[in-house]
Amino acid sequence: MAVIAVTGKGGTGKTVISALLIHFLSREKSLLAVDADPDSNLPDALGVKPRKTLGEIREVFQVSRDDMGTMNKEQWLEGKVYGEAITETDSYDLLVMGRPEGEGCYCFANSLLRGVLRRLMRHYDVIVIDTEAGLEHFSRGTISGADYIIVVTDMSKKGLATARRIKDLSQELKLNFRKIFLVGNRIMDGMGEEEIRKFADEGGFELLDLLPYSEEIARLDLRGDPITKLDENSEYAVKVKKIAYRLVGDSNG
Ligand SMILES: Nc1ncnc2c1ncn2[C@@H]1O[C@H](COP(=O)(O)OP(=O)(O)O)[C@@H](O)[C@H]1O
Ligand SMILES: [Mg+2]
Repeated sequence: MAVIAVTGKGGTGKTVISALLIHFLSREKSLLAVDADPDSNLPDALGVKPRKTLGEIREVFQVSRDDMGTMNKEQWLEGKVYGEAITETDSYDLLVMGRPEGEGCYCFANSLLRGVLRRLMRHYDVIVIDTEAGLEHFSRGTISGADYIIVVTDMSKKGLATARRIKDLSQELKLNFRKIFLVGNRIMDGMGEEEIRKFADEGGFELLDLLPYSEEIARLDLRGDPITKLDENSEYAVKVKKIAYRLVGDSNG
């Protein structure tokens, strides 16, 4: 099993890249897609209608757990997660985390969910997690770790600063990752390539690729079409497919 977490500043293209990675990787591997960004939009990008979020299930658990009597609470949660939160498609499963926390203490529910998620994840070859820059679910421990972290950045000072902060954070959280990658997105020809390469080098990132601005992506987005409709032979899709194969190769060997 390999866990791939896609992260980076908001608006840099995490969801676009996650959706395409899921699209391509699920052809080769049994795959669980996880939307761990509270500002959830991975289902739309994939063109999938999601079922309940993990947050919603935790909410129900919170109000009803006292009435469960002798019922094993972890089994109850596990049943709910499998029965109501996992969305199955022909090629992969999807889980939406939802809001990390509301009012009150969710410590008990969270600690049970950790176990449920750990067991759930073992059923898949690959897990792709679309996260936010704060790595909230990792710091709370709902998701225990990632083998590969892909940090997405555009050619902005803020994007790069966030990338650096994420690297520090992933180390502080002691995420036991094997590699931390950087991918540039919406990079215009002749603008910023050198800077990003240098940034990756100095920051200890392995640079995956520099992805161009794509008019087709912008059009799909405007029409509300899923990103998975992107022409497979477009420069953008070909590059992301290459990244997908590289990740699979890396985790095989
Ligand atoms: N390479 C690209 N070319 C054109 N538009 C892009 C590109 N990458 C992302 N976008 C658009 O930018 C916006 C933000 O992308 P998104 O993947 O949602 O970012 P994030 O998940 O990091 O917040 C979306 O409207 C998306 O369609
Ligand atoms: Mg997103």
